[in-house]
Amino acid sequence: MLPVLALVSWSHETKPLISRRFFLSGSALLAARRFAPSALALSLQQQTAPHATPNLDPNRLARFVDALPLPVVANPIERRTAPDNPGIQVPYYRIAMQEISAKLHRDLPPTHLWSYGGAVPGVLFETRRGEGQLVEWVNRLPAKHFLPIDHTLHGAEPGIPESRGVVHLHGGRTPAESDGYPEDWLVPGRSKVYFYPNRQDAALLWYHDHAMGINRLNIYAGLVGLYIVRDDVEDALQLPKGKYEVPLVLMDRDLGPDGQLRYPVSPDPSRPWVPEAFGEAHLVNGKLFPYQDVEARRYRFRILNAANGRFYNLSLSNGAAMLQIGSDQGLFSAPVTLKSIQLAPGERADVVIDFSPDRGARIQLKSEPFELMQFRVGATAVEDSSLVPATLRPVARIVESSAAKTRRLTLDENLNGVAESMGMLLNKTPWHAPVTEKPMLNTTEIWEFVNLTEDVHPIHLHMVRFQILDRRRFDTFDYMTAGKLRYTSSPMPPDPNELGWKDTVRVNSGTVTRIIVPFSGYAGRYVWHCHILEHEDNEMMRPYEVLPA
Ligand code: C2O
Ligand code: CU
Ligand code: CU
Repeated sequence: MLPVLALVSWSHETKPLISRRFFLSGSALLAARRFAPSALALSLQQQTAPHATPNLDPNRLARFVDALPLPVVANPIERRTAPDNPGIQVPYYRIAMQEISAKLHRDLPPTHLWSYGGAVPGVLFETRRGEGQLVEWVNRLPAKHFLPIDHTLHGAEPGIPESRGVVHLHGGRTPAESDGYPEDWLVPGRSKVYFYPNRQDAALLWYHDHAMGINRLNIYAGLVGLYIVRDDVEDALQLPKGKYEVPLVLMDRDLGPDGQLRYPVSPDPSRPWVPEAFGEAHLVNGKLFPYQDVEARRYRFRILNAANGRFYNLSLSNGAAMLQIGSDQGLFSAPVTLKSIQLAPGERADVVIDFSPDRGARIQLKSEPFELMQFRVGATAVEDSSLVPATLRPVARIVESSAAKTRRLTLDENLNGVAESMGMLLNKTPWHAPVTEKPMLNTTEIWEFVNLTEDVHPIHLHMVRFQILDRRRFDTFDYMTAGKLRYTSSPMPPDPNELGWKDTVRVNSGTVTRIIVPFSGYAGRYVWHCHILEHEDNEMMRPYEVLPA
């Protein structure tokens, strides 16, 4: 093993100085306001304070020396009466949030993490449509947090317990009392039973922490896991399954020279919050640069971007195309052939890769400029009885005229007097203001997100699934000065791989992005928010309430 210190480089030398916001800037005027003209690069660096020792440079670690780990499937401990049907018994799980230590790479010492059920990502739930289940979530975390809490953020004020957890099933059509409302957190020693009815189409969902004001830290610590819903429609398709169906959870982290997690902090110790956290170390299923031995045949990869703020743009090193067959909320009508697949935080892609033309090859899964993992294709020809049919699951487009209401909602950045980001807002309204979005159960609405900021924000609504209608550029200056929505482009249709059911949508800078949402499921209090966790924790989240029909 190499001495760990030899693996180090100064992170501020290796980090790209140009952030996403420069590529996506909607308005030169805004950019000038935000950054003193002579010091563009400097002002970006000032957003995070340097650590006393440099970050570990993952590029100096040996690549592809650890096998890709697969999540362990959760096991119920008993069966109990279903809350919505006293006539049936459903599986009952007990899963603990707990401190663990895990090897992220062969040549690193174990890393201290927080986990659901013993690993990061946590235990995997295998469920079927219409078969509900109960999960008792137990907080067994230590009382002290090990990442830097910002006590100026709402919900994390001094005096509020440091160690809090509440679990949300992202993409789940879940009754409100089991949805993991951000203020429903548990302190160590406490537990709560949630009911997941699973009355929804087959899809890859995921569960993660949602505790008010520290969500970004809890997820960064490792509180993430997968939840698969299956159904008969999907089973009938003969997609690759069993060991040929592989979940891939992507996340980026910064590590210290000792291999421990580091979360970036601002230069102001009384307000450590940073507007975005990007790491240099990319974990796939909790390993750095893993490899997977694959046979020369089709595989189905269920991919989740679980990063706090990083967008991944996935491609294969041999330039081969991938077949995307589904996204956040399940299968597409038809497969889409793509050489690269963009995934914002919270988004999922269901992808089939055919390795049969590449016997004996080594192929890297990349997100330029990063290599994430390697596939080692077997040398022998194998039989493959799986199929990817031309028609998967019909997704009927919802007609706009079915919407009972259209809401226009802005995405705003809150700048202080010296043009530093104080966080983002939804519709200029902080979290604790009264609920303003109250759709009626079983009605359909159009939500128009007017992005006045220079960032792409992946906007997520709890409980529902929706379709993307279009995106349209507009003049942000006109909007901010005169309140006028003046479009500067015609409506752009969603990408071919955005035509399925979604629960998270990329709202590009300077666009109005429209979604159409049937509010079917349950009445009650839910949330919608940006899935860049630093934004979410700092006011870019709002409650919404589904009113009973
Ligand atoms: Cu991934 Cu509020 O959720
Ligand atoms: Cu969610
Ligand atoms: Cu955001």
